[in-house]
Order: sequence, then C-alpha cells, then structure tokens
Amino acid sequence: MRVIIADSAAEVAEIAANTVAAVIRAKRSVGQNAVFGLATGSSPMGTYRALAALVNADELDVDGLTCFALDEYVGLEYSHPESYHAVIAQAVTTPLRLDPSRVHVPDGLASDPLAACDAYEAAIAAAGGIDVQLVGIGTNGHIGFNEPTSSLMSRTRFKTLSPQTRADNARFFDSIDAVPKHCLTQGIGTVLDARKVILVAQGAGKADAIAAMIEGPLTSMCPASALQLHRDATVIIDREAASKLQLTEYYDYITQNQPPHVP
Ligand code: GLP
Repeated sequence: MRVIIADSAAEVAEIAANTVAAVIRAKRSVGQNAVFGLATGSSPMGTYRALAALVNADELDVDGLTCFALDEYVGLEYSHPESYHAVIAQAVTTPLRLDPSRVHVPDGLASDPLAACDAYEAAIAAAGGIDVQLVGIGTNGHIGFNEPTSSLMSRTRFKTLSPQTRADNARFFDSIDAVPKHCLTQGIGTVLDARKVILVAQGAGKADAIAAMIEGPLTSMCPASALQLHRDATVIIDREAASKLQLTEYYDYITQNQPPHVP
C-alpha cells in the first residue's frame, strides 16, 4: 500500500484528482475510455470538485467515461437528496458533465435485489472492469458498505448496515430513524478487482480506522485492511487522519524519494 500524507484536505483532493485524471488520460492515449469507480460520503467530494475544475479548464476530457458507484441505500427513492443516485448526480454527473446513461449506481429500489446485484457485477465486467476505484473509509473500517466481518472475497450484494454506520450517517438525515437499515454494496472482492484503488480520508475521526487498515492485521474486522492485498492501492490522507500511524516518517520518506517515472 502506498501512503501519501498531505498537509491539508485540499491537497488530498488535488493529489487524488490528479491520480484519477492520469488514469483517464492514459486510457485516452491508447484510444480507450476509462471506467471510474465512484464513492459517496463526504471524503471524496473535494476530489470531485478538483476533477470538475480540470474538466472546466479543458485539462481533462471525460467524454466516454463510464462510472460505477460503490453502493446505494435500499428503499430510498432516487429523488431523496441522500440517495446515492442523487448524491452522485449532484456531485459527479452534473459537474463533470458526464453522460448520465454511463453513470451506474446499484438499484436500491429493485424488486429483486439479489438479481440487481448480479446484474451490477455483470455490467462492471461488460465494461471491461474498473480502471480506477475511489473509496472512502468508515470509522469502523468499512469500504463501500462492507461492514466489519464482511467476507474479504465478497461480491456486490445486499447488506444490513451496522448501528455505528447508521449513527455516523444520521447527520445527513432528519433523524437516525430516517437512515435506511439496508443497502446494496459492491463486495470487497469487487473492489479488489479494480486495477487501481485510491482511498481518501481526512480528519482525526478517521485516524483509528486508517491505522488499523494500514498497520493492523489483515482482518474482516477492518474490511479496508483487505487493500493490503491489492497490488496498486494508494492511500491519500491528511496529517489528522494519519495521526495514529506508527511509520509516518517512513511514508513521508518514500513520498519524498519517489522516482519521477513512478506514477
Ligand atoms: C458511507 C459510504 C462509504 C463512505 C463512508 C464514509 O458509509 N457508504 O462509501 O466511505 O460513508 O463517509 P464519510 O466520507 O462521510 O466519512
């Protein structure tokens, strides 16, 4: 796992956006369109704003870009502002001027959720797999909505949200009772299939989860620790989120001595 500790949340967003942009440009240079995996939550919002700035400055061409979101609540109307359909439309599709038909979010209103999950996996495969997957991390170490004890080989499926996740996400709703209890989420195995994974986190509230993910054991108790198995996972965090890591100086040393040809 590569660990980049930035001096501010704005710098986290800038590094992450430039990394995603490099993947999109590299695919474009060989005549292909990239597939971008999207996360929700507050953590990646700065990255989306930085990507939109690149698009608006004509420094990034996202024509033909296909996107797949990680997860969605079950039972929330897409018009609800906290449905991930609505969040992705507002934070990604509109500002990046993407073709909405190329932006996919799991169908939390499907009458047959299990079939919808299988169809989602099939759609990712049909698109050629995900080139670059952006993820955040929950305070309990979840990625997507893969709660502690999730199978590290799981695929897109129906899950029950943990009480901690519902409490964490209650800030987006009128009350905790309004937070859905279920979701559809890409599995950890699905995330591990992405060719490149970028995890972003900011703030001291994420420090324990970040330390467990990077320096703790590989364990389903911290689902994000599965990224230790990925061949191209980059963690981009601010100093506060890095504050419980033991090897901070080592990560800074590697960042400062990164050869220019290494992306
Ligand atoms: C939600 C999302 C996750 C996200 C997490 C953290 O539970 N399903 O994908 O990583 O929240 O959210 P935040 O970035 O707001 O802390």
